[in-house]
Amino acid sequence: MSNGFKEGFLWGGATAANQLEGAYNIDGKGLTIADISPGGKQRMKLLASGEFPLEIDHSKYIYPNHDGIDFYHLYKEDIAMFAEMGFKTFRMSISWARIFPNGNDAEPNEAGLAYYENVIDELLRHHIEPTITMSHYETPLNLVKEYGGWKNRKLIGLFEKYAQTILERFHTKVKYWMTFNEINTGVFGSFFSTAMRGATPQDNFQALHNQFVASSLATKIAHELNPELQVGCMSIYATMYAYDSDPKNIMAMEEKSRMFNYFCNDVQVRGEYPTYALQFFKQQGIKLDIAEGELDLLKAYTVDYLSFSYYMSATVSVNPEHQGDTSQGNFFGGVKNPFLKASEWGWEIDPVGLRLALCNLYARYGVPLYISENGLGAIDTPDADFNIDDSYRIDYLRQHIAEMEKAVTIDGVDLFAYTPWGCIDLVSASTGEMSKRYGFIYVDLDDEGHGTMNRYKKKSFDWYKQVIATNGTNL
Ligand code: BG6
Repeated sequence: MSNGFKEGFLWGGATAANQLEGAYNIDGKGLTIADISPGGKQRMKLLASGEFPLEIDHSKYIYPNHDGIDFYHLYKEDIAMFAEMGFKTFRMSISWARIFPNGNDAEPNEAGLAYYENVIDELLRHHIEPTITMSHYETPLNLVKEYGGWKNRKLIGLFEKYAQTILERFHTKVKYWMTFNEINTGVFGSFFSTAMRGATPQDNFQALHNQFVASSLATKIAHELNPELQVGCMSIYATMYAYDSDPKNIMAMEEKSRMFNYFCNDVQVRGEYPTYALQFFKQQGIKLDIAEGELDLLKAYTVDYLSFSYYMSATVSVNPEHQGDTSQGNFFGGVKNPFLKASEWGWEIDPVGLRLALCNLYARYGVPLYISENGLGAIDTPDADFNIDDSYRIDYLRQHIAEMEKAVTIDGVDLFAYTPWGCIDLVSASTGEMSKRYGFIYVDLDDEGHGTMNRYKKKSFDWYKQVIATNGTNL
């Protein structure tokens, strides 16, 4: 039996340094914004309010990212398990503050570079192709304190130096790169994305502009080192629906979708600001500080492929009658979709929405697509022998992969990679919890940091192994 997934399709899993490495202050690493982000269900609210210290305060908060799941020390064992599942790629990030502890140091920290070199070599030894995100919610904290985060143009040059350092060091070993994780969360002014507090819309779009320029500079460096290197952008995509056929709802959905789903991709794939964004800036009184040559740079150094995370869809209505029924936990503030069920964290589960995402993105851009995150955050309950029956996760992934397959065979989408999020349990970004688990591998650790950190295969481990072995045929 065969299907439409291309030969050499990159099946794998995705992670981020700050959510799994731990070792937050070891071997010269500086603090990042993740290191001072308190854990707990209120994390996003707290980060949005800006009412938390830019210092570690153990008397008030817990910091689950400090220890992560100790991948820093256990990476060999973990990579061996990824290899056992047959991973073709492993998406990881490099923590900028392991390389430049303060973000603006004169020289890179060799211990940080050596650590990542070891991880990369270990992956290659197992024939796993690394995919590296340069910045995944872990801007060095010092850049917030000294410069106020990404609205400051100074960060462009600092990022360029960091990108140059890691690209020069690893370009012979790593082909696939992503610049900024979920860059479009900056549209809403996410602290993780822009490293700014108390930001205005003007700040948010200036921060995004600076990141677009930084991303193009990284692409330029990569291609000058080796034109074969593949540099992608990465944004979160939420397929958007109008609640009903009321044209007002359809227009509202359209406006929301283009600013959230497409604005950043339009700039990074097409190389220019779309006219709807320029009009939006005018209406909002946003004036971007664009230096000479920057627009040419954006045009000259667009990305080679587009990657996106997909967890849920969002439903839009401007009708006040529908507003009472808001969808819990959904980032996009939409209304509840009566046709969809939600995860325990209120994220609406929508496999068909993934096929729509693939169709929409491919029709608009025509570049190869990489699904860099997808998955179900759920509470797993091991039995006394640490057997974990996560059939619900298998169902979720099976349905999403089946829709991917349709996008490839029926719709003709060029999809080349799929890396489900948190292939090994790790610290949640939105809540700092361990109990919001995504992995094929269970890590014995609770929300307060208690546990052996031993690793156990869940039921989904063997299932995914089979999916990879059959190139997505055996679901
Ligand atoms: C994405 C992020 O938004 O979603 C990851 O890139 C994050 O860092 C993932 O972990 C899942 O979100 P959460 O909040 O469930 O960890």
